[in-house]
Amino acid sequence: MNDNIVWHQASVSHAERNAQKQHQPALLWYTGLSGSGKSTIANAVDRKLFELGCHTYVLDGDNVRHGLNKDLGFDDTSRVENIRRITEVANLFLDAGLIVGTAFISPFLADRAQARSLAGQRFIEVFVDTPLETCEQRDPKGLYKKARAGDIPHFTGISSPYEAPENPEIHLRTAEMSVEGAADQVVAYLRSRGIVTA
Ligand code: ADX
Repeated sequence: MNDNIVWHQASVSHAERNAQKQHQPALLWYTGLSGSGKSTIANAVDRKLFELGCHTYVLDGDNVRHGLNKDLGFDDTSRVENIRRITEVANLFLDAGLIVGTAFISPFLADRAQARSLAGQRFIEVFVDTPLETCEQRDPKGLYKKARAGDIPHFTGISSPYEAPENPEIHLRTAEMSVEGAADQVVAYLRSRGIVTA
């Protein structure tokens, strides 16, 4: 880093921002295969939290790749950089006091561990555990079909690995539950930790 860049103290402290809100900041880190339901569940949770009066935001893989990360592809190096930037942005949102949801495949254990180490206690890993066969059957964007045909290189689950979480705070076995049920499980977890009290 450049020695001439100096951190500027904020005039409103993190504690002051938190005190203004009805909840604690948290980072719900959804991880799972493409088509597993990360964005759908993250948005269902977001709606519930919003209605409880929480200040929230969802960072979604496809959306962020339209803007901030539109220069990145899907080779390993690009995915690492994708997650590094998301982690930094999520941490700014945590500093602002929000409950942030991040919905990225985030296939590598090491990158998620890095996100955890930056966010500390606030990091909540949510494993959206949908079997590959189900994701492939759903294929909402037709991408698995293309990947099987060899038209998309490095496709997660097909030609690029997905390293499942070993010890996620929340494990959503989506084959056994509705979106609503999954969202309720996440909100119940936040309540059990005292992050949401409403
Ligand atoms: S990540 O691996 O870097 O975390 P991210 O969540 O940002 O992935 O983007 C995944 C989305 O990009 C998928 O849901 C899918 O729509 C699209 N996509 C395009 N190419 C690929 C690919 N090679 N592997 C996985 N997803 C891809």
